[in-house]
Amino acid sequence: MGFEQVSTLPDGRRLVLREAVLEDAEEMIVFVQKTLGESDYLLFEPGEFRPSVGEQRQLLEQCARSDTHLYLIAEVDGEMAGMLHFQPGKRKRNAHAGEFGISVRKKYWGMSIGRQLLQALLQWARQTGKIRKINLRVRTDNERAIRLYRSVGFKVEGTISREFCIDGRFYDAHWMGIELD
Ligand SMILES: CC(C)(COP(=O)(O)OP(=O)(O)OC[C@H]1O[C@@H](n2cnc3c(N)ncnc32)[C@H](O)[C@@H]1OP(=O)(O)O)[C@@H](O)C(=O)NCCC(=O)NCCS
Repeated sequence: MGFEQVSTLPDGRRLVLREAVLEDAEEMIVFVQKTLGESDYLLFEPGEFRPSVGEQRQLLEQCARSDTHLYLIAEVDGEMAGMLHFQPGKRKRNAHAGEFGISVRKKYWGMSIGRQLLQALLQWARQTGKIRKINLRVRTDNERAIRLYRSVGFKVEGTISREFCIDGRFYDAHWMGIELD
């Protein structure tokens, strides 16, 4: 059985964090498409993310075969509210490290779902005994996300220019990371 954690939101609703299963594939695609329409801070443009359900299932199968690849879903009263995807390096020399992306549906922002997903990632990663470094890239003007990452222990390790180009304008990104014992 994969990771699963149940808690209660401030408004009393039930929050479940759990590893995604094959049956989630279709809802996950719809979720990502909706979040892309709600935030400019993600990599894909709205409409650009169009995997088939089969492709998404393949990714979930890959994930299920690996003990260091994680697709975490947050559900509020059964509705998909957040998602976190962590992928490790593909070679022996970088398999101990990986990068993740996170998003929460706008109507659920500010309810601690992002924080709980991050804490679950850290707990899961430590328990693998294999993941020793977690990285992420974040637009330098995404202050809310950066504050959240810092608060759970991530540090800015460097800044790269022109990581994103949105409507003809360039945006820099921080590489942030956390080392695990
Ligand atoms: C970044 C994101 C994942 C955070 O998720 P979340 O569930 O809203 O996060 P949390 O509720 O755990 O709160 C995060 C912080 O934002 C603060 N916050 C909450 N609502 C806020 C608001 N309306 N305005 C400003 N800050 C707010 C919280 O107080 C918390 O900070 P604190 O704990 O220091 O007080 C979410 O906003 C999101 O999906 N954004 C769009 C996509 C994105 O930016 N992804 C990250 C790309 S690197």
